[in-house]
Formats: sequence, C-alpha cells, structure tokens
Amino acid sequence: MSKRRLVIVGSGIAGLWTALHAAPRKVVVLSASELADGPATAWAQGGIAAALGEGDSPEQHALDTIAAGDGLVDEHVARRITQLGPAEVRALEQLGVGFDHEPDGRWALSLEAAHSRRRVARVSGDRAGAAILEVLTAAVAAAKHVEVREHAPVQGLMGDGQGRCGGVWVGTEPENPEALAASAVVLATGGLGGLYALTTNPTGNRGRALAWAARLGAVIRDAEFVQFHPTAIASDRNPTWLATEALRGEGAVLIDDNGWRFMPDIHPDAELAPRDIVARAVFKQRQTGRGAWLDARQAIGERFPDSFPSVFQACRNLGIDPRREAIPVAPAAHYQIGGIDTDLDGKTAVSGLFAVGECACIGLHGANRLASNSLLEALVMGRRVAMAAGEHECDKLSASGGIKPAVRLPDDALDQLRRSMTAHAGVEREAAGLDQLVDEIDWMIARHGQADELVAARIITRSASRRRESRGAHFRRDYPDPAEPARSTYLDFSSAMLNDH
Ligand code: SIN
Repeated sequence: MSKRRLVIVGSGIAGLWTALHAAPRKVVVLSASELADGPATAWAQGGIAAALGEGDSPEQHALDTIAAGDGLVDEHVARRITQLGPAEVRALEQLGVGFDHEPDGRWALSLEAAHSRRRVARVSGDRAGAAILEVLTAAVAAAKHVEVREHAPVQGLMGDGQGRCGGVWVGTEPENPEALAASAVVLATGGLGGLYALTTNPTGNRGRALAWAARLGAVIRDAEFVQFHPTAIASDRNPTWLATEALRGEGAVLIDDNGWRFMPDIHPDAELAPRDIVARAVFKQRQTGRGAWLDARQAIGERFPDSFPSVFQACRNLGIDPRREAIPVAPAAHYQIGGIDTDLDGKTAVSGLFAVGECACIGLHGANRLASNSLLEALVMGRRVAMAAGEHECDKLSASGGIKPAVRLPDDALDQLRRSMTAHAGVEREAAGLDQLVDEIDWMIARHGQADELVAARIITRSASRRRESRGAHFRRDYPDPAEPARSTYLDFSSAMLNDH
C-alpha cells in the first residue's frame, strides 16, 4: 500500500487541489490543524487572477506578471500558467465556488495593483479564500481516494541520504514521530510569514518546508524575496488582518496623520503602484512618524459592509468603522515569493519529493509577485503535480536514514527570531544588519539546536546577503539600485549554513 500512497503535506488550496486530481492514486493529506482552520488560503481576500474579462488575454496577463517580477520571471512559465488559468477557475466554479458575476453574467472582476486591467475573480467581494476552502474541504471529504489526517504535524522528511525521499515523519511529539512511508511526498505547506513579528499568515507558517527539503538535497531559489503587504491593518494583534488591495482598486487612498495623500508623489500609479513600492512608502511613513492610513470613506463609504464584509468585520473587531474613519495600516509579511526550486511538474532535485504552491518556486513571481497570482499558480500547478507525483514510484529505499528528529524552538527564542527578522530581513535590509542576524541565528542554533525555523531564517538571510542590489521586494539600503544582469539566487543546505568570506 505505502508504495502506491501519495502523501501531501498541507491542506490549503494547493494541497487539496493536488489531492483531488491525484485520483485514482490513494492520497493521505496531512493537516497540522483542523482542515478548515489552519491554511492561509482561508484568509485570502482578493481572489484569483485570470484572463476572464472581455478584452483581456493570457498574453496580457503574462506581460503584467513579467513586468511586476522585475527581471526574474521565467517568461515561459508566466505564459504557461496564465494560459492554463481560466480553465482552472471555471473548474472551481463547476465544483461549487460561487464567484461574483455581473447581472448580465459576465465575471465581476476586481482591479489590483500592477494589473493593467480588472482581472481578479472574487467571491462575495472579499471572501474568495474562505469560500474556496469550504468547497474544497467538502470535495475532499467526499473523495474516496483521499484520507485526511487532522492534527498531524509533520516533523521532517524521510530520506536515504542519496537524494531520495521515501515519506515523512509525523506526529505531535517531535522527538517521537511516526514514520509514514509514501510513493511520493508533495509539500504544500504554504509560506513563512510566521518568521516575522507582523504577518497576515497563520503564525504556524514558518518556512519549515524549506529546511526539510534543503536537508534532503533540494535547492532553494530566491528566498530573499519576501513580499510585504502594504495595507495590513495595524494593531497589536499578530497575525493581523488584511485590508485587501481591491479596496485601493475601488479608489481607497493612502493618507498620513494630516490627511495628506502621499502616494501620487512617489509613483505615477499612486496607490496602485507595484506592491513593493507601496509597502516601502507605508514603511517610511510609519518610520518617520507621519503615520499611514487607508481612507475608503469617499470611494466606498456606506457600501463597505456589503462590498468588503471580511475587512469590515476585521475593522469592527478593532473598534474601527471604515465608513467613517480611515484604517491604520502597516506592512506585514504576506507571501514567500521564492521557495523550493521545482520544474513545471513540481519536481524538486530530490527523487520522490514534489512541492506546490507558496512553498515552491517555479519562477512565476520573479522578484515581486503580482497580486492574486498565487491562488492561480496553486490551481494550475496542483493539477500538474498530481499527475507527476501520482506517477512516481519510489525506489526501494532505506528511508529513515540521514535525518534527525525535529528540534523545537522555545517560544521566547521564536519571538526573538521574529523581531530580528523584521528588523534586519524585513522591508529594508543592509549588510551590517544581515550579518548581525546571521550571528544571532547561529547563537540560537548553538543554544537550541538546528530547529527548522532557524534553518529557514538562515536560508532567507544568506540569500539576502548575497543579493547586493535592490530588486522587487528585496530592498538594500546599501545597494539601492538594481544590478545587471538580473539573476536568481540558488542555495543548497551547505551553502545556506556557511558564511561567505
Ligand atoms: C489582497 O487581497 O490584497 C491580497 C491579494 C494577494 O496577495 O494576492
């Protein structure tokens, strides 16, 4: 049985779409929490970018993706994903997702930053992620080939030390996990916002899959590109809520404490400039004490509760009425742009190990992900990975060798790591801070052992140190300009754990 069993780690859109399309192959989906509770997908407000509207085309969508990615998008990948995207959105709709349509049946599409036209398919305004997850959870529950194990956190991968993966270590006790053998393992774990002090992700998303995959021999690509969402709602709460970019698409503006609209001085597209530019502007406003607020009073006003129910509820939880007051905003770690390097079938450098969705890097996002391209990628790649991983037969391997049981990072150390990552590998970086961060991580490794979070943080930090330029989401105060030619960063485990001299 185990030789023909596909194990999928993660239960967001990427993991569940892969699981559904792997039939008739038997699949086990491992979810660290309850199925409908844990994944970042549930919090996605924007929707799915796809060329569904009149006058739009996959080629135009690919061109916008390439322009936003600032020199590092693999163009053939952007073309392939945007070409296959519309059919996947329609497939989701057929499964029961109630996308918004105009009274005449056309798709109701939102505008988000750096898209040249309205292109984001949405559900009840800002409920896309939650609605998609509800439908996928029900579909998986009804699928005979899928077994779901909830509260089953993975602690690492089983490998043979020779570049092959044969299963996962799973269980709530990191020191005493169960060995779960598989014909192939698909990582669909989401991102790493939980390595930062303020994030829009579930805080359990801490990039551990980067550490697992790298330890077995996978290559990590462009890990320095961590996307900060410019309009997370500023509060004491971590994780915090998002104020979707679609609000700015509807005309909401960014103002300072005095009501001054600051974006038009910074970029001709103002609030709809590429996300990294808006994030840095909001960061600077807050650093200099002038404050940053999203003002939707004029543009949306009384329509707010019906048009953006999730943001409205989040504001009300904080005692803010966005119909009458501006919303305080701050940049928050939102999306892992780079990740485990894979091809267009999700194959990593490790035989039997696949990755899909946010933890993977196929070269679609380059240095700066175009808004709402991530759910699209998860759908297109989920179907492809299901085929490729479903066909994989693992060789006979003594899979348990090579990997030590996971080390748990104490909560106080994790908090310290989050503060340091935010200070030194956040919206702005520079050599001195990155060096200090590496020293801190090494000190923690010496004290607590090689916890996955520390390995992931080191991968990000080493990649950020190596990129001595500013490009997309990676801004270096000491190297404020881009360098030519544009190149991706590739790190394996040993180069991530060493220092350059
Ligand atoms: C948003 O709704 O602003 C987020 C969309 C995304 O990150 O893709």
